Amino acid sequence: MNWEQLDWTALDRLREGFLTGAAAHGPYWQTPSDLASYDATYAERIGWKWDAVLRELASRQWRPPASARTVLDWGCGSGVAGRRVLQAFGAENFDALHLWDHSPLAREFAATRARETFPALTVSPFADAGQPIGLLVVSHVINELPPEALQTLLGLVARAQAVLWVEPGTHAASRQLIGVRETLTPAFDLIAPCPHQGPCGLLSPGNERHWCHFFAPPPMGVQNDSDWVRFGQRAGIDLRSLPYSYLVLEKKPAAAIPPAGAARILGRAEHFKGFARVLSCEAPGVEELELQKRADAELFKQLKKDASHPLYHWERTDRRITGATRV
Ligand SMILES: C[S@@+](CC[C@H](N)C(=O)[O-])C[C@H]1O[C@@H](n2cnc3c(N)ncnc32)[C@H](O)[C@@H]1O
Repeated sequence: MNWEQLDWTALDRLREGFLTGAAAHGPYWQTPSDLASYDATYAERIGWKWDAVLRELASRQWRPPASARTVLDWGCGSGVAGRRVLQAFGAENFDALHLWDHSPLAREFAATRARETFPALTVSPFADAGQPIGLLVVSHVINELPPEALQTLLGLVARAQAVLWVEPGTHAASRQLIGVRETLTPAFDLIAPCPHQGPCGLLSPGNERHWCHFFAPPPMGVQNDSDWVRFGQRAGIDLRSLPYSYLVLEKKPAAAIPPAGAARILGRAEHFKGFARVLSCEAPGVEELELQKRADAELFKQLKKDASHPLYHWERTDRRITGATRV
């Protein structure tokens, strides 16, 4: 599909459903053209968030365990998440892609796109016969799920060897994901974004206003691309800002988890004249720390321009960062 063929009426209707919460009231895909227009726009933008997550996993040299031979994309929509994951880890390393969505149109569309992209891969709708699940992929679905559907999904999570789950970077979606995280730590190791395996520090009293989110960079040139600019304006989306929250889990014991003492900045560092403030997540908790520019000018600069969200090991005196190493 190209930009001239986009079904703007369908995109407007989808947007309305996402914004008002009507998307939670049952299947909303009406024609394959809805899905094609979504796939070229909203889903592509979701793909940029997946790219950021997958880059972070590559930088940590994490891969799904070799025994995870199948990918299940649950709530697949047009199937962007499953495709991004297969591209990142190599479709040749899996036996099959299974797709599930309560919309048959979505299952069909996602399967067709996946077969075009990975002709050698077996692609089929997911039929739950209680089988073990390899790599479970979930994307932008949590706020559409009534409690019983979330329980069904969590039942699949429990059977998965590894889980990659990306949601919008809103307070509500992040907080929902944190709720899920807390139920899973007995059985799973946390690979990302959490720098530790303990209880989520955002649940501590005083941290209610914060949430666990990050910002993905849009691809170069998008802000100057007239088609994307038009889409952004019509959809009411700031193309420069791609907030997301996520969870990557591997059944215990995972080969590699973040090292002791690791810290990750939530959201973005805030820069002021001569100092920066960050919300730092570490095993002892989530807290605001400050970095004086004069303490480490290089780090000060790095925090400003680095859109990735790496793990650090802070050198600090109380709430003052005095230096850092990437871990
Ligand atoms: C916002 S779309 C996201 C689609 C895709 N995962 C992505 O990231 O682009 C949410 C998808 O979840 C599906 N969905 C919503 N409730 C569901 C449920 N109870 N069971 C299965 N799929 C569901 C919708 O049909 C829709 O395709």
